[in-house]
Amino acid sequence: MTGQEVRVSTSSRPRPRGVPAERVMSLLRTSGRALEQLLGGFGTALLALGLLIWALVVGVLTARPTLQALHALADRERARLGRWGLEVPVPPRRAAGLREAWRDPATRAEAAWLARHGVGGTVVGFLAVLAPLSAVQDLTFPLWWWTLPDGWASPSPALWVVRDWSGVPAVVLLGAAWAAATVVLGPVLARRQLRLGRRLLGRSDGDLELRVVELARTRAAALDAHVAELRRIERSLHDGAQNRIVATTVLMGAARRSLAGDPDTTARLLDQAQDAAELALAELRAVVRSILPPVLSDRGLAGAVHGLAAASAVPCTVEVDVPVRSPASVEATVYSMVAEALTNVARHSGATSVHVVVRRHPDRVHALVRDDGRGGADEAGGTGLAGIRRRVEAMDGTWTLRSPAGGPTEVEVVVPCGS
Ligand SMILES: Nc1ncnc2c1ncn2[C@@H]1O[C@H](COP(=O)(O)OP(=O)(O)OP(=O)(O)O)[C@@H](O)[C@H]1O
Ligand SMILES: [Mg+2]
Repeated sequence: MTGQEVRVSTSSRPRPRGVPAERVMSLLRTSGRALEQLLGGFGTALLALGLLIWALVVGVLTARPTLQALHALADRERARLGRWGLEVPVPPRRAAGLREAWRDPATRAEAAWLARHGVGGTVVGFLAVLAPLSAVQDLTFPLWWWTLPDGWASPSPALWVVRDWSGVPAVVLLGAAWAAATVVLGPVLARRQLRLGRRLLGRSDGDLELRVVELARTRAAALDAHVAELRRIERSLHDGAQNRIVATTVLMGAARRSLAGDPDTTARLLDQAQDAAELALAELRAVVRSILPPVLSDRGLAGAVHGLAAASAVPCTVEVDVPVRSPASVEATVYSMVAEALTNVARHSGATSVHVVVRRHPDRVHALVRDDGRGGADEAGGTGLAGIRRRVEAMDGTWTLRSPAGGPTEVEVVVPCGS
């Protein structure tokens, strides 16, 4: 690996401190969201468990309606996943007969989901309800246990009976453990449940058809990105070089008219025309550079990324491992992602340092920009991040933005580039 480091010192800024209240609010929001997801999952899990028991008991006798119920329930779960931002398309074609259904990978995957979600989702959903309720009961135990008749006061779950104050701290500790489980395990379980659904219900005979849908979407994104880029170039030419050239021609005309009578005015107008022409040239050069930065062809991706780091307003460390060149479009996409992310760090993050990683794997380029700033980046807040996402998706790559309130912010892309 040819990891290198570039440190660029800048004027010292106050280090942003994670505001504890903000962090706690963000943690509570995440656990609340996870709880909501798990409760939704609990609903479909109970239905799945019911259908599973039904299928095992009388499924053979009522195979067709059972199959239809399975499809309906799987579609309901797909809709639920969609509400949480995981688009899981309904298989375009459903197996007509029982024999065909048995051979259909999508139906078999739905049956596997039914068994796993029916059992696992019910247990997880039950725990998701139990944990926060038990946390509240056990943490507030000191406030009310003494009002109960002797022998009735127990923690949740009722593992032992509390008869005097010496037994109370253990119950409060148990409450803290329930609260920790709600906050820490809830989001993990919710994520796993959503992923399981997407993995099993997102499969179909037409994995190929899904791929076609995905390609159509990214092709549209590619065209959008292309049009946006053309519009940007058109605006730059129109507002910059074109205006200067118009000014040059007007000045030249005036100079020509003043040729006979007033040589001083002619000389002044020609000077102005020359200045305007030089400005037009400089603006044309800038536009050309922005189309495909020459630094990429001159110094390659590694050199270009080092150049960006050196110009960064926030101290920047770089780790580059790019032993071979990648296609120009891949290098340009990764370069523009790093450039946009570093500009955002300087403009919005309040960070004191930023780290850039760029690695070339045999079949892809991976890039990551991580800052220690205040977080809260949102691609809906501007055009820069959304433009990068469209550009990366258009190349069949993946893009991830992690930026919880309080920081840190990570922008990561993986762009395939063949081997
Ligand atoms: N590293 C970061 N740290 C904190 N907030 C960020 C960071 N990057 C982006 N943001 C937030 O996300 C929003 C969207 O960023 P984006 O790059 O899309 O737009 P922008 O930088 O505001 O404008 P432009 O369209 O010129 O790029 C920003 O307005 C900013 O509030
Ligand atoms: Mg931006």
